This record gives sequence, C-alpha cells and structure tokens, in this order.
Amino acid sequence: MDLSVRVGSLVLKNPLIAASGCFGYGVEYADTIDLSTLGAIVTKGLFMTEREGHPPPRIVETPAGMLNAIGLQGIGARRFVDEKLPELRARGATVLVNVCGTTLDEYVEVSKVISDAEGVAGIELNISCPNIKEGGIQFGCSLTGTFEVVSAVRKATALPIIPKLTPNVTDVASFARAAEDAGADAVSLVNTFLAMVIDVETRRPKISNVVGGLSGPAIRPIAVRMVHECRQTVQIPILGMGGIADTSDALEFIIAGATGVQIGTANFVDPFIWDKLLAGITAYLQRHQIGRVSDLVGTLDLRTDHQTWTSS
Ligand SMILES: Cc1cc2nc3c(=O)[nH]c(=O)nc-3n(C[C@H](O)[C@H](O)[C@H](O)COP(=O)(O)O)c2cc1C
Repeated sequence: MDLSVRVGSLVLKNPLIAASGCFGYGVEYADTIDLSTLGAIVTKGLFMTEREGHPPPRIVETPAGMLNAIGLQGIGARRFVDEKLPELRARGATVLVNVCGTTLDEYVEVSKVISDAEGVAGIELNISCPNIKEGGIQFGCSLTGTFEVVSAVRKATALPIIPKLTPNVTDVASFARAAEDAGADAVSLVNTFLAMVIDVETRRPKISNVVGGLSGPAIRPIAVRMVHECRQTVQIPILGMGGIADTSDALEFIIAGATGVQIGTANFVDPFIWDKLLAGITAYLQRHQIGRVSDLVGTLDLRTDHQTWTSS
C-alpha cells in the first residue's frame, strides 16, 4: 500500500498533515506522537516579530465546532528557527512553516528567514487569517493581492509555496487560480469562517475580539465543496481541511480532489487521531483494491444516473 503523495517537489510519506494553529510548533507533541510518522506538520503562523495575540477569552465551543480569535500569537520567525526547528529536525518531522505578514515586505522577509534555515520543507502562506486587522486576509480577499504576495514570495524563495486560502469569499476557485498563476506549488484550503457567538444573558460577544473563525465538523461540507470547485479550476495540488474528524471525512476531501488533508480542531479532541486515520485510510484502500492513495485523489464520480448513488 503506497500512502505517499507528491505536493510540488515535496514527497510526503502520507497525506496526513497537522493544521496550523492546532499543533503548536510541533515540539509540544513530540513526546506524545512520533512526529516523523505524519505526512507533515504546519507550524503556528509566524510574523517577523513576537506577537501577544488577543486578550482572553479567545475560544468558545460551538455546535459541532469552535470559534477562535487567537490573533496569531507567536514567537516570531527567528526565535522559531533558533528554538524550535532544531528539535523538529532531530525528530525527523516534515515541517511546513505558516508564514504571516502585515505587509508584502514582511511576507518576503519572513519567507527569506525561513528559507535560510535548515530543515524547512515548505512555506504555507497565510493570507487568510480572519482574526487580524492588518495584512493577511486583506491580501487573501483580493485577487490582485493574492497574486502579488505569492509572486513576491516566489521571487524570494526556492521552497515550495502553498498559499492558504480563505473561505470568506464568493468564488474561492478564482483565488486558487490567482495563486497558481503567481507560481504557487499547491494551495491549502480552507482557513476558518468568520463567525460570532453572543452570550444572551450579558449581551456580550463570547470572545474578546467580538468575531472569530469557525472550525470543526460544522464547516466540513462547505470546505469539501470548495475543494471540489478548486480541483476543477487549477492543476496544482490541493491540501484540504475543515472539520476532518474521522477516516470517512478525510476520504471525502481526497475524493473531492485534495492530495493531502490537514487536521486541526479534531486534534484538540483526540491527539491520537493520526494512527486511527492512517489505519482507516489503509483499510479503505485495501477494501477498494487501490494500491496508491494518490490514485484516489479527485476520483469523485459525477455521473447522474441513480444507480451510482447507492453505496456498495
Ligand atoms: C485555535 C486555532 C488556531 C489557528 N491558527 C491558525 C494559524 O496560525 N494559521 C493558519 O493558517 N490557520 C490557523 N487556524 C486554522 C486551521 O489551520 C484550519 O484551517 C481550520 O481550523 C479548519 O480546519 P479544522 O476544522 O480541522 O480545524 C487555526 C485554527 C484554530 C482552531
């Protein structure tokens, strides 16, 4: 059974990737999980400098999901390289760094620092965080902005670039195309959906930032639809995510067209989810006599006759 997948010039040993912001810098899990068994880990978003993020409360549980507005708290690119990357290297982790910026120049600067470091496999370009006021999603909500930031980072690094797209737009596929046209090696989707929860007794928002990003199973069908739309629009690989909590969820994304899948919120519920997903995907491939998981990518059957809708 071949579980490896190719994402641009990167070969991942399997399609399972820890999503940004839901797995710390990876090292926090190193004594719990063998990091080298994951396809890759994506770090928490990094700017050039340290950030405090928003004051608490920053997360609240919702039906089938959670709302967060962490505000991209982080240690900054240089401290990550000095303090976290050596251990990730020693543990054999495949590391994708989630690169943030308030300006185009900052995206380029962070990307250069990350590219000069030893042991980074690729850059996930975060142009989609809904929880910060400057930069970020302003690039990701503009086709020109998306094209410009990806082009600028493309010139600054030889590492694979994977822009992470926001679902908070009308036509996500056009953003995937802008990223592809600018030289992206793949796209990640989706980041969280802008949302809000109110405490009716106090009549106050339940998180300090008033609004935040919704994640978890509640968003999965929308995210699957968006992966499907992007798969029909771009040639580059897609890393799909949004509410994956079991094998069947991961398979939905793969069949819709995701070469790799990221797991975020579910990792908070079950940090041991990885082995279960790997075993589940392997069993599915055996049952369907598919030798390579890459052969399953984008195999959605769109015939409309009724018989194909009944599951065997
Ligand atoms: C607490 C929290 C922090 C997050 N931080 C980041 C981040 O720093 N950068 C980023 O690109 N996405 C971030 N995300 C978004 C996730 O990586 C992922 O795109 C989203 O949660 C959907 O996947 P899920 O439903 O499996 O969690 C964060 C999500 C959560 C819940």
